[in-house]
Amino acid sequence: MHGGVLLRTAIILAALACAPAIGQEARVDRPIVIAHRGASGERPEHTLAAYELAIERGADFIEPDLVPTKDDVLVARHENEIGGTTDVAKHPEFAARRTTKTIDGTSITGWFVEDFTLAEMKTLRAQERIPELRPGNATYDGRFAVPTLAEIIALAKRRSKETGRTIGIYPETKHPTYFASVGHPTDARLVAQLKAAGWDSPSAPVFIQSFEVDNLKRIHAMTGIRLIQLMDDGAPADGAVPSYAAMGTPAGLAAVARYAWGIGPNKAAVDGTTLVADAHAAGLRVHPWTYRAENRFLPPRFASGTDPAAHGDLAGEITAALALGIDGFFTDYPGIGVAALDAAARKPVK
Ligand code: G3P
Ligand code: CA
Repeated sequence: MHGGVLLRTAIILAALACAPAIGQEARVDRPIVIAHRGASGERPEHTLAAYELAIERGADFIEPDLVPTKDDVLVARHENEIGGTTDVAKHPEFAARRTTKTIDGTSITGWFVEDFTLAEMKTLRAQERIPELRPGNATYDGRFAVPTLAEIIALAKRRSKETGRTIGIYPETKHPTYFASVGHPTDARLVAQLKAAGWDSPSAPVFIQSFEVDNLKRIHAMTGIRLIQLMDDGAPADGAVPSYAAMGTPAGLAAVARYAWGIGPNKAAVDGTTLVADAHAAGLRVHPWTYRAENRFLPPRFASGTDPAAHGDLAGEITAALALGIDGFFTDYPGIGVAALDAAARKPVK
């Protein structure tokens, strides 16, 4: 059989062969493209502009990381310290809010979303996190507000209607144990908000993800929405399991399959390992993160030149990952991801 057909067949078979672990409906047509923090390679992350562009680029899902404001409104930021991705430092009225906190064992100094009401957050504007790598994004600094989960849900629904495609959302609960410890629990709030949007079952165009374990187990008891256990180096902040390495063993994956639909590993964990096959054997889907075009983030074989900001062969990296049988992937460049997926499916028979 031709290599292109083999690749396409491998992609489809990998998706079809992976039985749902806990009776949840499966998306089996092709791997999904998840716009990581929106089209964050092209616009400042976690802004409506980044999510809008991701949808324009063809993403299946848009990914908000979620943190709560002082008045318990879920908003999209990658971390609760907002000095790195907003212009809060330029607001003298908030200078006294600068403080130091310990988040999941790490001491961090800055401004924290849980110390700001939504009305105050809405006076801030997003700024690019890595302007040295993404100077084009930095030209949008100061233009976009921090979006709420409600606004992101509304965007996904509106654009689904307008495009005729189903645009899903893929929210991540950030630091759930920490937020519960300071009086801002987020799990039930997220589930209630999704339920109010009509999303409460495995067929909803939603995945809920977390690096922690116990909050996913709690959420599993609250909703039928598909859950994704994120994995990285080290161990979950809630201490629920000894390490992510243990979680990635066949026994660990079998335990995850009791509450989650899939795993979201660091992309380095699927390259040259049996993790994808092992997860599939446990009935779990695999959505690795994060595929980015800049040389800084690419494996050397896909890099181009030595400038860390220059773009290498992201499509090549994604194509190689698809050949491993992954079921979806997080990318800062959903347009490149969609093109790579289409190209893999279009390869002609020789
Ligand atoms: O949620 C998948 C991926 O986004 C995890 O990494 O740090 O970008 O949230 P992070
Ligand atoms: Ca995330």
